[in-house]
Amino acid sequence: MRDEFLDPIATAEETLAEVGLRPRRLADFVGQAELREHLSVMLEAARRRGQPVDHLLFAGPPGLGKTTLAAIVAAEAGVTLHVTSGPAFERQGDVAAVLTKLEAGDVLFIDEIHRLARPVEEVLYPAMEDFQLDIVLGKGPAARTLRLELPPFTLIGATTRTGLITGPLRDRFGHVARLEYYDPDELRAIVSRAADIFGVQITLDGAYEIARRARGTPRIANRLLRRVRDFAEVRAGGVIDFDVAQAGLALFGVDELGLDKVDRGILDALCRRFGGGPVGLSTLAISVSEPTETIEDVYEPFLIQRGLLIRTPRGRMATAAAWTHLGLSAPASPPPSAASLFDGERD
Ligand SMILES: Nc1ncnc2c1ncn2[C@@H]1O[C@H](COP(=O)(O)OP(=O)(O)OP(=O)(O)O)[C@@H](O)[C@H]1O
Ligand SMILES: [Mg+2]
Repeated sequence: MRDEFLDPIATAEETLAEVGLRPRRLADFVGQAELREHLSVMLEAARRRGQPVDHLLFAGPPGLGKTTLAAIVAAEAGVTLHVTSGPAFERQGDVAAVLTKLEAGDVLFIDEIHRLARPVEEVLYPAMEDFQLDIVLGKGPAARTLRLELPPFTLIGATTRTGLITGPLRDRFGHVARLEYYDPDELRAIVSRAADIFGVQITLDGAYEIARRARGTPRIANRLLRRVRDFAEVRAGGVIDFDVAQAGLALFGVDELGLDKVDRGILDALCRRFGGGPVGLSTLAISVSEPTETIEDVYEPFLIQRGLLIRTPRGRMATAAAWTHLGLSAPASPPPSAASLFDGERD
């Protein structure tokens, strides 16, 4: 099985740093106010009834806190957290091995749950619904089914793509929560907290400047903070103020909107190479040398949210704001504005 906190998007440095930066309690978790409230009610109700928390599904772009929240639910409930991920289950027997290790009330966290193989997923249905596990012994006419009772547990699934979760699986979660991008004030608080943990001095406007350019994402906020801290230590007096933050971010190629090289590469390809689009996802992915899933899961949601890119039934298009951001003049027939955003294409 894969390393529990391994993440395709997070770097090795990040994986290490994140363990230390993860808030451990609901009260330390910044932002997602509505979700926090839902969780605190669910936790309290479960505690009063002496039952495990209902199964939870967390959906949203990478780095918004899904894994963190799963760990918080286990900590708040005072139970053990077992971490695994969808692709780690190859056979039905792998599920059985994991489920039979659980103790009453434990939390089983399955990251990338949309990548579960179908037969594996089907073993989970009765396990989630009735805490029962059906194991098929043998093959052919002699096959028998053995039914095991499981202790009641909480399954927490995380996915970057709700669209890929099958109906039957989705329906078995007691609560489906969508994590939203964070606003700059929330990210400012996250940056200040991380700076405290690192023991680096940062001013409010320095933290805000990093937060503002963090693509709405705590993981990126923490990443930018580490780079600006490097810059502050090597090129400035070690303290991160507004000017140091600006200079550090500029050095590492993070622009005014917080777009990085790949974000800009996508917009650049759309505008310069394809005249603003529409262009299909796979063509766009090839032109920036990134896998289509990375474009869809990591880059595109933020570009859409910022009104720089839209999806149309015929492909991706750059908005007028994208042309402006690249310092280009838009073509004669005006590109669409984000207001005409509609979400049709699937390729
Ligand atoms: N609300 C928050 N408050 C403080 N820090 C946070 C918050 N959310 C996330 N973080 C920080 O961001 C990092 C990434 O969060 P996490 O690993 O939980 O994201 P994720 O949604 O599971 O991402 P992925 O989809 O890539 O697995 C964490 O290590 C944590 O330090
Ligand atoms: Mg995660």
